[in-house]
Amino acid sequence: MKIGICSDHAGVEYKAKLIKMLQKRGIEVVNFGTDTTESMDYTDVAHPLASAVEKGSVDLGIALCGTGNGMAITLNKHQGVRAGLAWSTAIGALVKQHNNANVLVMPARFISYRMAAAIVRTWLDTPFEGGRHQRRIDKIPVH
Ligand code: RB5
Repeated sequence: MKIGICSDHAGVEYKAKLIKMLQKRGIEVVNFGTDTTESMDYTDVAHPLASAVEKGSVDLGIALCGTGNGMAITLNKHQGVRAGLAWSTAIGALVKQHNNANVLVMPARFISYRMAAAIVRTWLDTPFEGGRHQRRIDKIPVH
């Protein structure tokens, strides 16, 4: 399992801790930055992460910014990406069960680190339900 992860300056501290948490679980992590608290544009790390997910050079992605919305909006411009925003463990489970999100997005300025870590664990451990949800996912791409 290889996971790509990115954040802007608002999510950089949670990203560093999540990388350690994932590595402890034996997951290979590819860090797309940013790695400082200096103000930067979330697009500059979101597009490279999304391209890696689309190409399959990482299996899944995790992205953090202040609200999560800049990351989600940017990531979802890529046809091969289903980026889902989660701010609770219940939504972290549903975004996998129903949406099979291949990128998990979280709002670092609105949740605790403890919650972010719990959401990641839940999202990773929850299976996609398939069935009617697969049919809906199949209708998402714009042709
Ligand atoms: C940065 O101030 C903030 O705009 C960014 O982290 C994110 O919330 C954008 O959607």
